Amino acid sequence: MSVPQPPEPIPGARLLFSLDPAVSHLNHGSFGAVPIGVQRAQQRLRDEMEANPLRFFTQGLVDRIAHTRRHLAGFLGADPDGSALVGNTTTGVAVVLQSLGLQPGDEVLSTDHGYGAVSLAIQRECRRTGAVSRVLPIPLAASDEQLVQIIREGLRPGRTRVLVVDQLTSATAKLFPTAAIVGVAREHGVPVLVDAAHAPGMLSTTVASIGADFWVGNLHKWAYAPRGTALLAVAPQWRDRIEPLVVSWEQESGFPARVEWQATLDYTSWLAAPAGLFTLRSLGVDRVRSHNAALAAYGQRVVADALGVPPAQLPDPGGPEVSLRLIPLPAGMAATIDAARALQARIGERLAAEVAVMSWNGRGWLRLTGQVYNTADEYEQLAARLPALLAQR
Ligand SMILES: Cc1ncc(COP(=O)(O)O)c(C=O)c1O
Repeated sequence: MSVPQPPEPIPGARLLFSLDPAVSHLNHGSFGAVPIGVQRAQQRLRDEMEANPLRFFTQGLVDRIAHTRRHLAGFLGADPDGSALVGNTTTGVAVVLQSLGLQPGDEVLSTDHGYGAVSLAIQRECRRTGAVSRVLPIPLAASDEQLVQIIREGLRPGRTRVLVVDQLTSATAKLFPTAAIVGVAREHGVPVLVDAAHAPGMLSTTVASIGADFWVGNLHKWAYAPRGTALLAVAPQWRDRIEPLVVSWEQESGFPARVEWQATLDYTSWLAAPAGLFTLRSLGVDRVRSHNAALAAYGQRVVADALGVPPAQLPDPGGPEVSLRLIPLPAGMAATIDAARALQARIGERLAAEVAVMSWNGRGWLRLTGQVYNTADEYEQLAARLPALLAQR
């Protein structure tokens, strides 16, 4: 089968970023990349802060945060007053877990596609409260219907106090049918926390249409916000129960201000986040989405061809907007997290290509992303050089 054509480049897009031109940046998924205009917007805010710190923090900052949050929530289709800005998805998950009031014998249900740090947070909350963590195995190739069925059968109504699922998984780049999962969980009276770390900017699904009890997503990955910008959306019945990790001066203001105000911090990443949306909109949100997904699909195919992986063995990401794609590595390679990290570093050093190497269920995977600053030849160069590097085990 022939490799599909790469998408038309978006003219000038690479110039919007300060990325090292000597490196192919094929892992936007882990930490994003902040456009130069957004970096400058944040620097202007820092200049304002440093010109008069007292005025910056005490006159209007809480309101500026609220205005920014409403703007970002509007873009994501979340309730502007039922959402709180947090530093990152990990923090949002921790806020939710510790607000649930878990008791001994309660169960937190998640899947084996969950993000490692989120699994660790679940384990710690369970140790702290006497609750139990149960992880549902879900085959990589499961269809949406099969996935929903596995979850339906895995729920233990009355015991399962929360179900934690990803909207788009990190290690397996798989889109979960979150609205359908929420529907099934609701039928059984089980609240759902959606880890949507990759959704903002990449996926067009609105937060409201998923209908989860809790949803948290990063704007610092695919929405071009400065790092440290995430939104936690909470359904009305939970808002009074949500406690911040750190009690500070807005505690008596209730949700969301009490979660947002976390004492003296650099809040400029949040205030500059709308500049990220501006960049996305000025490039054309739909155009960026379809470009990135098509380029990631192209990169997946050229690298898979070079490694001798037939198209039938490439996992289906589950949706047309998914801009991260997996390629299986030869059996036994990157089988552990440590081995995966070592291989990722070796590819970075030897091939000047930043990629993600994932270890999932004892199997190693290469994860590639597509972004507006990438070009087809970056994947072609990786494809030309990777087989020799992998052969030098
Ligand atoms: C699915 C998923 N959840 C959570 C996170 C954590 O994001 P952060 O480090 O911004 O908290 C990531 C980061 O890549 C992720 O992919």
